[in-house]
Amino acid sequence: MILSGDRHAESTGLLPFVVAITGASGSVYGLRLVQFLLSKNQPIELLVSKAALMVMKEENDLIFGENLKEELLKYLKLAPDVPLTVHSLTNYGATVASGSYKTRGMAVVPCSLGTLGALSAGLTENLIHRAAAVCLKERRPLMIVVREMPFGHIQLKNMLSLSEAGAIVSCASPGFYHKPESVQDQIDFVVGRVLDQFGFDNQLFKRWKSENQETILGAGTAAGSAGSKKNK
Ligand SMILES: Cc1cc2nc3c(=O)[nH]c(=O)nc-3n(C[C@H](O)[C@H](O)[C@H](O)COP(=O)(O)O)c2cc1C
Repeated sequence: MILSGDRHAESTGLLPFVVAITGASGSVYGLRLVQFLLSKNQPIELLVSKAALMVMKEENDLIFGENLKEELLKYLKLAPDVPLTVHSLTNYGATVASGSYKTRGMAVVPCSLGTLGALSAGLTENLIHRAAAVCLKERRPLMIVVREMPFGHIQLKNMLSLSEAGAIVSCASPGFYHKPESVQDQIDFVVGRVLDQFGFDNQLFKRWKSENQETILGAGTAAGSAGSKKNK
């Protein structure tokens, strides 16, 4: 039986998670996040901006037609009965537009500077803005993963005011300490850190461990020597 995200939540007790993909470079981050969570049967309420669809076309040769949900699931190699609801951005009557509809929180991945500006100003020109404003007013976790380089003064101020309003503000900023071997490793590092913020268990990247610290301290220090002996 095919259940929409909210019906699935009712039957499993899992609160739905809201994911928005906006028109910044790196829509692959958002797509990977959705793929990972749906593969774990986590109900998702998905919002995709028009600009995000343009970016997907430019960056990934992805052209989605009228039936975004069906085509997306095919692309992500997921079964048609996963708990995904895709909302139209003009549907202010959607579940996620109301604070009385309980969710686990929301991630905007990637977040464009345009959406950043709207969120920090409290505008609700589309359902992404409204769903994010709902998370802030209901004190639910909202994470934004901005992608731009460099930042202007206005964007820095917008990020600060969103952080002051309770949002978790970050950039798509993959690390190197886990020794990535591919672009997919870099994508998974960013997505894994987003999942961490919401308490979703994941092993998408190699975590920092105390043995790494011993290696970095080196053989020249007492701690380093002890560490290297222990490792032999
Ligand atoms: C290929 C492509 C890449 C883009 N990359 C970025 C980006 O990295 N960051 C950004 O803020 N905007 C970027 N933009 C511009 C946004 O898509 C544009 O500002 C749009 O109005 C954002 O709308 P949205 O926030 O509703 O998605 C890009 C646009 C295109 C077509």
